[in-house]
Amino acid sequence: MEVVIQSSAEELAELAADAIERLLAARADAVLGLATGSSPLVIYDELVRRHQGGRLSFAAARAFLLDEYVHLPPEHPERYCNVIAQAFVDRVDFGAGAVHTPDGNAEDLAGACLDYEAAIEAAGGVDLQLLGIGTDGHIAFNEPGSSLAGRTRIKTLAPQTRVDNARFFGGDADAVPRHCLTQGIGTIMAARHLVLIATGIAKAEAVHHLVEGAVSAMWPATIVQQHPHVSVLIDEAAASRLRLADYYRQVWADKPAWQVL
Ligand code: GLP
Repeated sequence: MEVVIQSSAEELAELAADAIERLLAARADAVLGLATGSSPLVIYDELVRRHQGGRLSFAAARAFLLDEYVHLPPEHPERYCNVIAQAFVDRVDFGAGAVHTPDGNAEDLAGACLDYEAAIEAAGGVDLQLLGIGTDGHIAFNEPGSSLAGRTRIKTLAPQTRVDNARFFGGDADAVPRHCLTQGIGTIMAARHLVLIATGIAKAEAVHHLVEGAVSAMWPATIVQQHPHVSVLIDEAAASRLRLADYYRQVWADKPAWQVL
């Protein structure tokens, strides 16, 4: 696991965008894993800037979103497929049908989850997965207590997550759906490179567990300690509870220029 501490979210976004740019330069039809939440927005803005500058094209790329609420009306602005369209997909040049989300309005939700797993596999798996982290240590919507090996399935949101996400629903936690479809931790761990971004003091405890805690379903993100290629991009506030912060800074400062994320 590589822990990169920078003073601003914009610097972190540059690093994530560099990794995506390198990936697409090597293989234009690479498969990206996209995440919602506010943390990755700064990365999407940077990718859009590079696209507008003619540096980056997503025309041949494919993408899979991590998760989706169950039973929000199709046009609801907080449906994750609409959120990611507005934040990123519609601002760049993905081909029609290249970006996938689990179908939270399917009649057969369990079947939709199986279809989603099959679609990821048919695409050849995810090359680079962007991740945020919840204050309770969830990734995607794998709440505390989730199987560390699970695949895409229906989950019940934790009360803390519904409180955290109430800001997107007019401040009303009761308006946040109770259920979601989410890639499982097993699905996420199959991606070839995980790039997790976390900023702000509210994430410090979760980041502490993620990087330096014991692997446990109580802090689901801790499982990424067992992934062979993880980049944890955090600001000073999110890093404030890390015991080895100075070591991570030194490793980054001493990193050879040729050794990228
Ligand atoms: C949501 C999403 C996660 C995200 C998390 C943190 O619940 N399902 O993918 O990482 O919230 O969001 P934020 O970045 O807004 O703090």
